[in-house]
Amino acid sequence: MRIRSGWATRSGFYMAAIGSAFGLGNLWRFPYVVGTHGGGAFVVIYILCAFCIGLPILIAELMLGKVTQQSAINAISVITHHKKSRWLWAGRLAIVASLLLLAFYGTVSGWVLYFLMQFLMTPLKVESADTTVLFQQLMSNGYLQLALTGAHILIVAFVVSKGVRQGIERWVRFIMPVFFILLLFLMFQSLQLPGSEQALRFMFYPDFNKLTLSTLVEVLGHVFFTLSVGMGAMVAFGSYLQPDISPIRAGVIVCSLDVLISLLAGLLIFPIVFSGSVGVESGYSLLFETVPLLFSRMGMGDYFGIAFFLCLYTTALVASMGLVESSVSNLVDRYRFSRTTASYSIAGLGFILAILPSLSSSFLKDFRINDWDFITAYDTLLINWVLPGTAVGLSLFVGFKLNRSDKWKEFENKYQGDSREIFGVWQFVVRWLAPIVIALALAGELLDFSF
Ligand code: PHE
Repeated sequence: MRIRSGWATRSGFYMAAIGSAFGLGNLWRFPYVVGTHGGGAFVVIYILCAFCIGLPILIAELMLGKVTQQSAINAISVITHHKKSRWLWAGRLAIVASLLLLAFYGTVSGWVLYFLMQFLMTPLKVESADTTVLFQQLMSNGYLQLALTGAHILIVAFVVSKGVRQGIERWVRFIMPVFFILLLFLMFQSLQLPGSEQALRFMFYPDFNKLTLSTLVEVLGHVFFTLSVGMGAMVAFGSYLQPDISPIRAGVIVCSLDVLISLLAGLLIFPIVFSGSVGVESGYSLLFETVPLLFSRMGMGDYFGIAFFLCLYTTALVASMGLVESSVSNLVDRYRFSRTTASYSIAGLGFILAILPSLSSSFLKDFRINDWDFITAYDTLLINWVLPGTAVGLSLFVGFKLNRSDKWKEFENKYQGDSREIFGVWQFVVRWLAPIVIALALAGELLDFSF
């Protein structure tokens, strides 16, 4: 059944999977959710949940793709031998989730494009107030946001339509290491600021009194979002895996790097927050209001600004490609679309869905769903509810329906080290622990909602 072309090289796969995980979730969303949820305690629970819940499900998704060589929906029907199995809902929901997320992600990627353009066009003379004004200007300009989102989605579709290998590998290979080094450098610059001690205390000193039940939902949602779990994206990546690559090892590498990069992002952003006037609870604007301030204090700040936003945009692009890839590979595998038609159809749909979040801070700012504007509604409903929901579905499916001997084989991978001793623990987590923790968290949140 080996019908896939696979990755040209082993490192090509790692780069693409890491590229899909690493993105705005780490640089933009992680610092802002840590900021709005009180700091240290959130960080501790995030690290715990990433390794104890997110990682096992990430491995499960990669494994499902690798064993079946199919993307999510087809993988499920191959295993159940049934075209109408109830489990298919998990796959379908994953596709809906990835489309909606593309719309949300496309909007924020448009903001990154805007800041990149600002740095390219105007020499930097920013003071605190300027970054806030700049962000506000963008927020109030609906047409501009829509145009930027459209441009982003079009670029993504173009790259994806060219196919996995050439499309993804080349991009990621160059930019990831460069960005990593740039982030390290900027983090050290930021840690020289007077607010760094306070920032370290904020990030690593857990005050568990600040926790509520909804923190757990927020953490779990973010973990799935940042690891690209719950959307079938990792099933699609897994389906291109060569036999000699262990999904267990791949999962551990992706998860560890992803957590590391999020922490780096926190260490870059919070010292700037505590050294100036930007509020720790700024939310969506946090990244955009802080990092340019650092550049304004550095020699050659303009160039660093361009490099930072160019790298950030590239990671947003690669992560968006993962989102599109998930739907495209399903359309190609299941409905026999050509790759080009599938890519542009998904992009068109993604753009239509992006109209609401793109206009939510301008023309539609008075529309509220449960007191949220549209972009907050997309963010909260999708990340905190839909992703954990599909993650449970996929986790249970792999836990109970995937053949034990297929799973076992992956754990005794003869090329990349044997991990048989953790098979039992992993299976326990995907069958029981993860679904129960997620269900309890969601149930608690639901009760909170109704009282
Ligand atoms: N994990 C990506 C990020 O952190 C977002 C993403 C989710 C990308 C799902 C692809 C699939 O930015």
